[in-house]
Amino acid sequence: MSFRSLPKVELHMHHEGAAPPEFIRRLAQEKSVNLSGVFSEDGSYAYRDFVHFLSVYEAATQVLQTPEDYARLTRAILEQSAEHGVIYAETFLSPDFCGGGDVGAWREYLHAIREAADEGERDTGVVLRGIVTCIRHFGPDRAKPIALCAAETAGDWIVGFGMGGDENKGKQADFGYSFDMAREAGLRLTTHAGEWRGPREVRDAIEDLGVERIGHGVRVIEDLALVDVLAERGIVLEVCPGSNVRLGVYPHLSAHPIEKLRERGVKVTISTDDPPFFHTTMTREYDNLARVFGWNEDDFLDLNRVAANAAFCDEATRARILERL
Ligand code: ADE
Ligand code: ZN
Repeated sequence: MSFRSLPKVELHMHHEGAAPPEFIRRLAQEKSVNLSGVFSEDGSYAYRDFVHFLSVYEAATQVLQTPEDYARLTRAILEQSAEHGVIYAETFLSPDFCGGGDVGAWREYLHAIREAADEGERDTGVVLRGIVTCIRHFGPDRAKPIALCAAETAGDWIVGFGMGGDENKGKQADFGYSFDMAREAGLRLTTHAGEWRGPREVRDAIEDLGVERIGHGVRVIEDLALVDVLAERGIVLEVCPGSNVRLGVYPHLSAHPIEKLRERGVKVTISTDDPPFFHTTMTREYDNLARVFGWNEDDFLDLNRVAANAAFCDEATRARILERL
């Protein structure tokens, strides 16, 4: 049985990371951008490890040069999401790639993305919202203009602020200024933590940045007392099992802690992260979790309710999503 048509809520996906390789190749051809090293012989994205993945990701992103390119990508993402039963998604948008952190340029990109999302919602029924994201390995000084972009465009569509990138660089607290600015603008907060580093990062994310959701967070399992803190405080984990296995955080799905975290009362949700990079889809994630952990439709309904309740959208949108689950 496949879970393709089951309604799903996806909270953790990177906008550029959702671009199919064919989409990137087409744009590269149109713009005469040389993307040698980005693709393997079979046409999929080629990378050796996490740090190399980040550099291939950034190389592929070079072909996204205008607001219209992002509008096209947004339409492709919504079609892809609809094919896998997703009814609500939040994607990470990086003003670093959309206008280089300039607020005026970012507004133009956002306008195009939003128009494409509204049109896509009418066509596919998928509701999309954006989380502005700074990039950890670009450093705290570059995060400040990104937080300003987020603060200036906070509202009913840009609903959150977050951080992705190389967790092995610097510390969460270095980005406190940017997260404070976003919080003061009314944005909800999430950060990647506990994907590559251990529980200490997860603790820092909660204590130093005050986030209510954590991207990945899975290595918190190495400190059961902290697992209990997450459960008590209702901190939500945006778990991306296929990403973790592809990038080698865990050798295979049966070694993944998602089941243990859930059993211990942590609010877990399921996402794809960068689906074509990791040869995954929401359907594949669900099918694999069902096969390895025996989860059924009721389990997935529970998880999707958790995700809908943790979504950063307004209450009217949340009510519409919950009704469709
Ligand atoms: N950016 C895109 N995918 C990412 C991941 N899995 N971890 C950190 N940063 C990312
Ligand atoms: Zn991610």
